[in-house]
Amino acid sequence: MAILETHDLHVSVAGQPILRGVSLALEKGKVHALMGPNGSGKSTLAFALAGHPAYRIDQGKIVLAGEDITDLPPHERAKKGLFLAFQYPPEVEGVRLREFMRLACGDQGHGFCEFRDLYPRALKRLAMEELGDRELNVGFSGGEKKRSELLQAWLLKPKVALLDEPDSGVDVDAVRLIADAIRELAESGTAVLIITHYPRILEHVAPARVFVLEEGRISQEGGPELAQAIEAGGFKAVRR
Ligand SMILES: Nc1ncnc2c1ncn2[C@@H]1O[C@H](COP(=O)(O)OP(=O)(O)OP(=O)(O)O)[C@@H](O)[C@H]1O
Ligand SMILES: [Mg+2]
Repeated sequence: MAILETHDLHVSVAGQPILRGVSLALEKGKVHALMGPNGSGKSTLAFALAGHPAYRIDQGKIVLAGEDITDLPPHERAKKGLFLAFQYPPEVEGVRLREFMRLACGDQGHGFCEFRDLYPRALKRLAMEELGDRELNVGFSGGEKKRSELLQAWLLKPKVALLDEPDSGVDVDAVRLIADAIRELAESGTAVLIITHYPRILEHVAPARVFVLEEGRISQEGGPELAQAIEAGGFKAVRR
């Protein structure tokens, strides 16, 4: 069952058209991958789905759990269960990860006692015990920031998790850890979209569907073998 659908999505940034008609569907409890050359619009798609005001939807629509959310502000999309893990996670001074997560979980209806039990488990799962009381992403290493983003999704169990390059700059052991956490997230019912350049993460968490974005359009769609073909021969090798 498709939990998130985009229909003919056209998005422009700073007056420049970037996405030129993207239609895709993400299914509950499944992992999907989005690949594509640098600058093809992958992050633009993620920001547009999350409702970033700089990413203007000129045409098309976004449907989450049967509801048209195209015109909703980001916080309302988030409340309805849409989560974005940033490619470049921002550092937020003065906000501790624990407090941030406690408020976010409370907003999703988790009680304080539940959070008190769940938070240490999530920190342990993502090997982040040392980071649990730090300010959000402040001074975190690149790989720590990626784990911090995933921790948020793992705790919130959103309907849809858009993970923009969760594996970039991440060491080989941490990729495995991240992949395992993503698999658990999907098993809990979340529809996951992994934006990535590397099939390595997809070897640990096999995607049901792989989409290729080129020049603002989905140029290819297939199974995990598509990621392997791209790794072996580049994007030109899979172009029809
Ligand atoms: N805020 C912005 N202002 C101007 N141009 C932008 C902005 N955001 C994105 N773009 C442009 O949109 C195009 C797509 O960028 P986007 O970040 O979506 O690519 P990407 O597929 O995520 O690339 P990468 O693999 O390098 O992360 C690029 O040409 C980029 O310069
Ligand atoms: Mg990007």
